[in-house]
Amino acid sequence: MAREFTSVGVVGLGTMGAGIVEVFARNGVDVVAVEIAEDALERGRATLTRSTDRAVARGKLAPADRDALLGRVNFAVGLAALDSVDLVIEAVPERLDLKQRLFAELDRICRPEAVLATNTSSLSVTDIAVATGRPQQVVGVHFFNPAPVMKLVEVVRTVVTAPEVVADVEALCARLGKVGVTIGDRAGFIANHLLFGYLNQAVGMVEAGYATREDIDAAMKLGGGLPMGPLTLLDLIGLDTAYEILDTMYRRGGRDRRHAPAPLLRQMVTAGLLGRKSGRGFYTYERPGSPVVVPDERTPVVAESALLDGARTVDTVGVVGGGTTAGGIVEALARAGYRVVSVARGEEDARVRETVTTSLAEEVLRGRLDEAGRDATLGRITWSAALDHLADVDLVVEAVAGDPDAKKALFADLDEVCKPGVVLATTTATRPVIDLAMATRRPADVVGVHVFDPVPATSLVEIVRTIRTSPDAVATARAVAARLGKTAVVCGDRAGFIVDALLFPYLNDAVRMLEAGYSTTDDIDHAMTLGCAYPVGPFALLDRVGLDVALAVQRTIYRELRDPGFAPAPLLEHLVTAGYLGRGSGRGFRDHTSR
Ligand SMILES: NC(=O)c1ccc[n+]([C@@H]2O[C@H](COP(=O)([O-])OP(=O)(O)OC[C@H]3O[C@@H](n4cnc5c(N)ncnc54)[C@H](O)[C@@H]3O)[C@@H](O)[C@H]2O)c1
Repeated sequence: MAREFTSVGVVGLGTMGAGIVEVFARNGVDVVAVEIAEDALERGRATLTRSTDRAVARGKLAPADRDALLGRVNFAVGLAALDSVDLVIEAVPERLDLKQRLFAELDRICRPEAVLATNTSSLSVTDIAVATGRPQQVVGVHFFNPAPVMKLVEVVRTVVTAPEVVADVEALCARLGKVGVTIGDRAGFIANHLLFGYLNQAVGMVEAGYATREDIDAAMKLGGGLPMGPLTLLDLIGLDTAYEILDTMYRRGGRDRRHAPAPLLRQMVTAGLLGRKSGRGFYTYERPGSPVVVPDERTPVVAESALLDGARTVDTVGVVGGGTTAGGIVEALARAGYRVVSVARGEEDARVRETVTTSLAEEVLRGRLDEAGRDATLGRITWSAALDHLADVDLVVEAVAGDPDAKKALFADLDEVCKPGVVLATTTATRPVIDLAMATRRPADVVGVHVFDPVPATSLVEIVRTIRTSPDAVATARAVAARLGKTAVVCGDRAGFIVDALLFPYLNDAVRMLEAGYSTTDDIDHAMTLGCAYPVGPFALLDRVGLDVALAVQRTIYRELRDPGFAPAPLLEHLVTAGYLGRGSGRGFRDHTSR
């Protein structure tokens, strides 16, 4: 029988601690909530009251239950109040010296049988445990932000943690309605190890002026399907906490440069820009602690319409390519009212035509398009097998599969065929747009438009400007994206643009973690869905995207940046070599044949 913890102490009532108090009190456990000083205690109390009031206002908690919940919490300044609890969870700032001192103190004050737990995100639980005389009763209990909402708890056992203590804590997690995933003591555990490289890389993009904060966040929400963008998430986590986590992961985790905190983070922390909690971080908030973003000097001042200044008139668009993406682009453009010339060679011509007609037929069946609309859409499309038919178009979108040299040759041909002033756009995801631009005599007119499949249903377009792209070519791409009802983000010409550059290294890291034997595919997937609210875990996503595609993107990123941290995981290479490519081939990280 697992031991039941009936009274629990929580130390530190900041971003995490106040939420952890709420989790316990909601589940009928008495809590002693401890802070270092009166003002911090009042802040913690106010956070708890606000959060429970919000739950009542939303109808998720009855007023009487709120009162009972608050009645279970005893607030106190100083650790002495913890002398009779069964379990203490600590959520003080992420600094080893501070936590070690705290645990030595807790060891003196708490009953000998009490379990001492840390909510650390990245520090060694073992280092903390040995500061006490009871290291076998010290464990990591890592909640996720916001603690009352996120289902995951990482339970971290050290080499000396007693198995029954781990079992008791696992049972407690279940009682709290959480999913406990038990793992060893490694920097960042599962979720933060996979999350923070990505967050740090996003900060690097802002720092380099590669894309704006708004565009990076929009790209990851719309293109990556994430609940919030990386910069919004960093503001929620707290930049001081994020800095400490990265710094520790860098030092403990093999000095992977991707975890070396971006210099901008340090500067922001020094300047007191800590994120939501201080009222300002990457964004500015209504007041400290508020989630409401208000405009500041970095908010784009140009009206949406001004971004389209200089856009060239586009009536007819040529689309080159015979695959699914080309078909999706043809359909989306024609439905938005553009006249479209679709150019595909040989059998591909029939295939792209089939893709478009089938998709439109499905739209009619689903009631999203009437038959007249379908006929008008098809009436706007000219099907062709010859590039010469693009002589009069205003914009060309290239979406051909195949090797880089073929694309270059195609751009040289387009340069011959197209009239002056045409914007030439490539959907390439794996080679620099500038290479294609320089295959023409009009590099200023060449732009990247990275779309996401299925094109008619997805809402993001990444517009890639090379060092030679003219502002009006960018404005033209923006105008077309707007008419298609898509959100456009603009970025520089680097491998993976925004979404792939941030997503694939994270997937690759998950493969490395699996390869290292640290955790399982299921637990890693759970960590990201239940701890970070990702719509799917990394292995489910890899199987869906295709391991061969992931490997190709990761290789491109690695070749460009040459940072060993981006080198494709050997396991990914082996699976691809073995023909385990994901859902499409029946097997990837999981076997899909019986599902
Ligand atoms: N912020 C997150 O998203 C997040 C998520 C999971 C885990 N964590 C971890 O939780 C811990 C706390 O992080 P946070 O973001 O909540 O920090 P925070 O800065 O928001 O809060 C820390 C609180 O601890 C209090 N404190 C400091 N010294 C104390 C002491 N000696 N005794 C009692 N209270 C003391 C401070 O007054 C403050 O209220 C860290 O270990 C962090 O890695 C954070």
